[in-house]
Amino acid sequence: MPVVPLKEILDRALADRYGVAAFNVVNDLSIEAVLAAAVEERAPVILQTSVKTVRQYGRKQLHDIVTALTAGVDVPVTLHLDHCPDRAVISGCLAGGWNSVLFDAHELDVAENLRQTTEVVAEARRTGAHVEGEIEGIQGVEDDLGSDEASTIQSLEVAVDFIKNTGVDCFAPAIGNAHGQYRQAPTLNAQRVSDLVAATGVPMALHGGTGLSDEQFTDLIARGCAKVNISTALKESFMQAGLAFLKEAEERKKWDPPSLFRHQRAAVMEMARRHIRLFGGSGRAW
Ligand code: 13P
Repeated sequence: MPVVPLKEILDRALADRYGVAAFNVVNDLSIEAVLAAAVEERAPVILQTSVKTVRQYGRKQLHDIVTALTAGVDVPVTLHLDHCPDRAVISGCLAGGWNSVLFDAHELDVAENLRQTTEVVAEARRTGAHVEGEIEGIQGVEDDLGSDEASTIQSLEVAVDFIKNTGVDCFAPAIGNAHGQYRQAPTLNAQRVSDLVAATGVPMALHGGTGLSDEQFTDLIARGCAKVNISTALKESFMQAGLAFLKEAEERKKWDPPSLFRHQRAAVMEMARRHIRLFGGSGRAW
């Protein structure tokens, strides 16, 4: 059974200070390509789905696809719901077999966020699932969620109190990171990651992975970012491989869908392989 709880994947990664790539998959082809790269690299991997993707497929159909595609996979895989402010979708995914959820209640005040996140943690425990928490918005709009405005940053004390009192298994701090491509190289508050991990022992989730430098990834992973989110890079590799292939198809007047899919699969696999290696995940499967 390749599907394992999120905590099992992240606790090992935090202890040995490597990062597990969490790819925002968009369809069956991208799920299969990410899994193929993880198998080739003998790496644990996190498949994460946005609320938009869950709604697009329907929860059961998406879960059935993941179940079918992970069936023969012999590396640890976990299925995670990315940023979700909607308790009904959270409950549906927990009941529907997701291994973990990011309850993104950063728009609530911290006290109410803490109260509701505590409830979500209790709900998740009933199905053996895990929870990522968030008290600050990660800048940038992704899959129709989020904002381009920078969010208020809470103090270290508030963040530590939230992590300890909710019992979340993973935490997503805002450290100057943003979703989407960076317009300029970001200045990150890496020390905040070290401080949060030292105070709580809980693994951090690094959001906004696309566009960070190799040095930034390596430093943040060494400080305790055990989960490293990659979405934009997957979308770009998928779409750009498709575009290049379609331009060529138009010139040659040859329209063969399986050839298009092969092209896109190869591009997504290459993108996934590169990140898995960079994060130190290769050879870490158990
Ligand atoms: P990017 O789109 O910048 O890779 O960020 C992904 C992410 O953090 C998903 O939650």
